[in-house]
Amino acid sequence: MDTLPSYDELPYDSLPLPETQPDFLAAVARLHGFEAPDPRRARILELGCAQGGNLIPLAWRWPESECVGVELSRVQAGAGAAFVAALGIRNVRILHGDLAALPDDLGQFDYIIAHGVFSWVPPAVQRALLDVCRSHLSAQGVAYISFNVAAGWARLQPLRAALLERSPVELSAPERYGQALRVLDELEAESSDPVLLKEIAYLKSAAPSYLFHEYLADFNMPTAFGEFAAQLDAHGLRYIGEAGPRNAVVELEDAWGLIPESMAGRWQDAEAALDDGHATRFRRALVACDDAPCAQPPKGDALTGLAFHADLISDDELDLQDATEQRFTNPAGNVFPASQPATKAALMALSTAYPVALTYPELLAASRQLLNEYGVADDFDEAALRDELFQLVMAHGVMPTVDTGLHAGEPGEYPCAHALARLQASSPGWVVSGMRQVGLELDEAARSLLGILDGSHSVDELAGIMQATLAQTGLEISRQTVLDLTHHQLWLFARQGLLV
Ligand SMILES: C[S@@+](CC[C@H](N)C(=O)[O-])C[C@H]1O[C@@H](n2cnc3c(N)ncnc32)[C@H](O)[C@@H]1O
Repeated sequence: MDTLPSYDELPYDSLPLPETQPDFLAAVARLHGFEAPDPRRARILELGCAQGGNLIPLAWRWPESECVGVELSRVQAGAGAAFVAALGIRNVRILHGDLAALPDDLGQFDYIIAHGVFSWVPPAVQRALLDVCRSHLSAQGVAYISFNVAAGWARLQPLRAALLERSPVELSAPERYGQALRVLDELEAESSDPVLLKEIAYLKSAAPSYLFHEYLADFNMPTAFGEFAAQLDAHGLRYIGEAGPRNAVVELEDAWGLIPESMAGRWQDAEAALDDGHATRFRRALVACDDAPCAQPPKGDALTGLAFHADLISDDELDLQDATEQRFTNPAGNVFPASQPATKAALMALSTAYPVALTYPELLAASRQLLNEYGVADDFDEAALRDELFQLVMAHGVMPTVDTGLHAGEPGEYPCAHALARLQASSPGWVVSGMRQVGLELDEAARSLLGILDGSHSVDELAGIMQATLAQTGLEISRQTVLDLTHHQLWLFARQGLLV
């Protein structure tokens, strides 16, 4: 096959994916006692990279890395290659081709990313994907392979079956999507299963490409964790850990300090049991070659060697006096509780520093200083902070990293956004990525402002341009209001690391 018509016809929304950032993957690996390569100078391969919405920002962030993307859909690969050419960076290539027939001269990679691919390709391509990992991972290299998990999908299979049966493949992609929406309405009226009703409600609001490529895809084959681990084994690969958010982790009492090989089976059984207990739907597995050192279940002690970033807010006034639970929310709306005064102070410090990361000692110092300012420094309890931080890291309320080199610019008198952000903002079909690999939801006005931030306009001039642009769409807004909005928007861009 030389292209994939379904993805040519309705391309996948190609988004930046925070969980695939190599600095994050290296941090997760370290929590599992596994030392992954330096992400800043890594060779990174992304399989099934769509138009490169994830890979290109990684290449941009680390100019000394070398990134290769492989994508079978001709349309998506072409869009990615054209974007790279327009951006003019040389450390990323998007190749049109089949991951099962890679060119011979690609070499070894420190990180291999395959997000949303494994469960959505035929078994022969699944095996090829694992072969690619085995033959192209460097000695300490790490692969990220996400897949749908049987434990959680068992309840959803009837929904997929009904949608497939009642949305004929003969229709064009948009017609099929429209038909699937009608089927969802019918199923909603018929069903009383809360899991299905929740999923139907989500699907009706989700991006068309999600419903189309998840529920109407030719292949969507959820795998049990144990089966996945067995497939890794058959390909000379081994599980390192989970890179997705988790509310529960496997702990094996005597595991830390290089898990004996004999314990790996027990660990995998426990992971499978966790999936059954939590009806896990999706996993993001970190994988290494089986001749690399053995990983182990994650341990909070390893936090001391990492750095952290978090974009959290709390609506309540923070109580740093007592260990009362308070709720912190990230931009995606996920809520994370914290109780210990030292943790709450640490989250405040991280929020102020964002997108810059704080090392563990810096975080301790910042937390201690805040508690001092509130006159409660005597209560500083590092062990309690570390325990709570570990839970927050596992749940992705706080993201760990091994790279502290990110600096964020301030909006000066002549604000300037970096070239990637400007090009993303002015290219329809591209999502603007924050420096921490998050997709930013920007309205048209914000995109057009970002697109012209080349350092040649003063804030005043920018506000004038924005006022005129908004007037063309029928929105008459006073100069002062537009100026305030412009300042606020520039602040948001700075917070996402888009300004230089
Ligand atoms: C569900 S999409 C995920 C895209 C992207 N990784 C992401 O998560 O945003 C799956 C992608 O894998 C690509 N793909 C499927 N089979 C492939 C193959 N044999 N070789 C390369 N790419 C393939 C599809 O064209 C599609 O872009």
